[in-house]
Amino acid sequence: MRPTQAPFPATRLRRLRQSPAIRALTRQNTLTVDDFIWPVFVRAGEGIKEEIPSMPGVFRRSVDQLVEAAREAADLGIPAICIFPYTGIEERTEDCAGAWDPENHVNRAIRAIKQAVPDIAVMTDVALDTYNINGHDGFVENGEIVNDRTVEALVKMTLAQAEAGADIIGPSDMMDGRIGAMREGLEAAGHQRVMILSYSAKYASAFYGPFRDAVGASGALSGDKKTYQMDPGNSDEALRLIERDLREGADMVMVKPGMPYLDICRRVKDAFGAPTYAYQVSGEYAMIQSAAANGWIDGDKVMMESLMAFKRAGCDGILTYFAPAAARILNP
Ligand code: PBG
Repeated sequence: MRPTQAPFPATRLRRLRQSPAIRALTRQNTLTVDDFIWPVFVRAGEGIKEEIPSMPGVFRRSVDQLVEAAREAADLGIPAICIFPYTGIEERTEDCAGAWDPENHVNRAIRAIKQAVPDIAVMTDVALDTYNINGHDGFVENGEIVNDRTVEALVKMTLAQAEAGADIIGPSDMMDGRIGAMREGLEAAGHQRVMILSYSAKYASAFYGPFRDAVGASGALSGDKKTYQMDPGNSDEALRLIERDLREGADMVMVKPGMPYLDICRRVKDAFGAPTYAYQVSGEYAMIQSAAANGWIDGDKVMMESLMAFKRAGCDGILTYFAPAAARILNP
């Protein structure tokens, strides 16, 4: 038990807030560049860097441009990037074969980045949505998202990414049994060092809206993702999912979205002590950027405060589109 505080005036808590030096000395949580994983978008073509309308300051890049971005991120000290593909409707099929094509945009980008910028860790996204004609994370049969056949495809996708040189595999699909199947597949293929950062507690959230624009899925998605992503009313279920994923072989776990689910981050960290990450998703980013663009908030200050909140909630790191901007403020 902590000692009870003596009453005023013996205790003046403002004493500890009196100057920048004392505030620095007594600050409990800190934010550093080491805390960031930067999500990026790769697309077809060459020499392309196009801004995503609903995510000002975020770009879709062709592989050559993405390599440059990875180099800048490494120079800023950002430890990891996470690659998502933008796929046009013509790149999507019912059998989702593009997902495990060694030559898809993501796998080409992984190889190019690992060659040019070997020190930055490369994370991937594993789910079928960006290759699926109907935008779902799993195969659709008779209107249902089927689990086990999807898991087989996710393992193929995982192995193609590991083969390309990915360091961290990020399953975001929310199918049951995928972590165990992926871990078994990786071990059997000799990829013992490849890590899995599981999107374990991923909610069916409206905060993903701008991301679906970014990857070209907005028009494609039929229905919603509520039969596989979590209900926002649940919290104990998050602990069951994390416990299961760690048992099946996840090295790190994630809560997603971030800011509206900080209570879940704290519970997860306290319960398991595993490396815990939060994804500050596209809608969270867009809200801050749009309010800042209108002059309603100070964008930089709100950005830094929002990122610190994740540290306070117990997170070891944050997937955030703000990574380069925040890095520039942290290390001017
Ligand atoms: C795909 C995936 C999504 C995000 C990351 N991976 C969207 C979804 O589940 O519909 C969202 C990221 C963001 O909003 O920034 N499985």
